[in-house]
Amino acid sequence: MGAELQYRKKYVYAEDYGTGYFKYGPITIGENPRMIQNRGLLIREKTAIHEIFKIERDVIVGDEEIPKFLGSREDLVKNLVYPMRDGIVKIDDEDAWKVIKAVTRYGFEEFYPVASRDPNFKGYYVVAALSALAPKYMYEKLFELHKELDSEFDNRLIKAMTIIPQPLAVAIAEKALTCLVVECGHGNIQICPISYYPIRKAIVALNRGGAEANAITREILKDCGYGDLAREEYVVEKVKREIGLVPKNLKEAIKKAKEEKERFRAKVKIDPVTEIDLGDNSWMRFLIGEIVFNPSHEEFMSYISQGRLVIEDIVIGDQKLYGTLDLASAIIEAIRVCPVEIRSRLFERIILSGGAFMWSVPPNLRDVACDSATKIELMISEKLPEMRGKVSISLVKDPQYSVWRGCIVYGFALPGDYKWDWSRLEGWYSWK
Ligand SMILES: Nc1ncnc2c1ncn2[C@@H]1O[C@H](COP(=O)(O)OP(=O)(O)OP(=O)(O)O)[C@@H](O)[C@H]1O
Ligand SMILES: [Mg+2]
Repeated sequence: MGAELQYRKKYVYAEDYGTGYFKYGPITIGENPRMIQNRGLLIREKTAIHEIFKIERDVIVGDEEIPKFLGSREDLVKNLVYPMRDGIVKIDDEDAWKVIKAVTRYGFEEFYPVASRDPNFKGYYVVAALSALAPKYMYEKLFELHKELDSEFDNRLIKAMTIIPQPLAVAIAEKALTCLVVECGHGNIQICPISYYPIRKAIVALNRGGAEANAITREILKDCGYGDLAREEYVVEKVKREIGLVPKNLKEAIKKAKEEKERFRAKVKIDPVTEIDLGDNSWMRFLIGEIVFNPSHEEFMSYISQGRLVIEDIVIGDQKLYGTLDLASAIIEAIRVCPVEIRSRLFERIILSGGAFMWSVPPNLRDVACDSATKIELMISEKLPEMRGKVSISLVKDPQYSVWRGCIVYGFALPGDYKWDWSRLEGWYSWK
């Protein structure tokens, strides 16, 4: 192995900027990245807290750190910034960019001290992943803030850097050259046909994800008399993961759940003294999973018409993100725009990734509940009966980590002398 490959075997560093979580870490940490919530607490005025905790920074990030501050000064909650919406940071949102810089720095602070002890270390090859819809200014801003961080770390932090679209990273992690990636994170669903590179004109994006499953969980908790607990994001998240189910068919699942109340009863222990019990409303647990796949059922309409649930189309740049379009129609639409000769190959290699596809299926409910791959297969077969048996869909092994893993593989494989090209948006970018 050449010296350069030896170097990259140690010093590739990947970053996946998600709406919910930032995943980061070097190639040497193994299969799983580190992960923190993508959010930061802005400390706007200098107060006694700065003195007491000896803080110089004006942004606090990290899953351990933020709660300490919120616990001590609840009024700080209003200064908690989630920098991304649907995978996008607004160009002029200075607070958001501060937080993006702070989470990025947080990652390097963990790994740079050890790397820098190696006299041969001349900086990481950094591979960052952004939404396939990220506008060019996000690339520019991300390069710029890495350049600034490099100078904070003795100009020895970064050797070169590149940015790739998240679905491409998934395809690379799965070693799939021609495939259709469906990436479903907290903020958005990206449906991206790939044939060596994303087929941009065929990308279909949906303006929903795990966040909408949280939103319906919150409303269900309120309806069931747990309004107080529904205010706590931690509780909502826990309830969603524990009782949320994806129905094979929503109507039939609800009917069965209403007939066999005990079998479908949804209970969650929050702490030793608090238990949530949905009782006769336990059929609602199917709404939590269904909303990701298809929110256009009458069961969701009352929430939407009352303004308790907002799912709407938005436009980012020249791309429309659909609110309520069902996932099968979106996949079919994406494939329809692709060249005829690859369409059937795309149906044969549909790859699902992202945390919002991680639904569990309790063994005693298998007759009505299913996993994400089965769900999408059922939905496509219903729309295109002639495709029954000809569609192949798989969920990647660790849905929240595959983007990061793909970045690592990409960084290891892309030759160091392949320079960044602004028209193709690929190659190594360097300011040295
Ligand atoms: N076991 C689970 N059951 C249901 N949902 C889950 C589970 N584990 C994680 N999630 C959801 O996955 C989402 C986070 O996934 P992921 O990290 O892929 O998103 P992200 O990268 O932060 O967002 P995006 O890619 O949309 O910008 C959250 O909505 C979280 O609640
Ligand atoms: Mg993501």
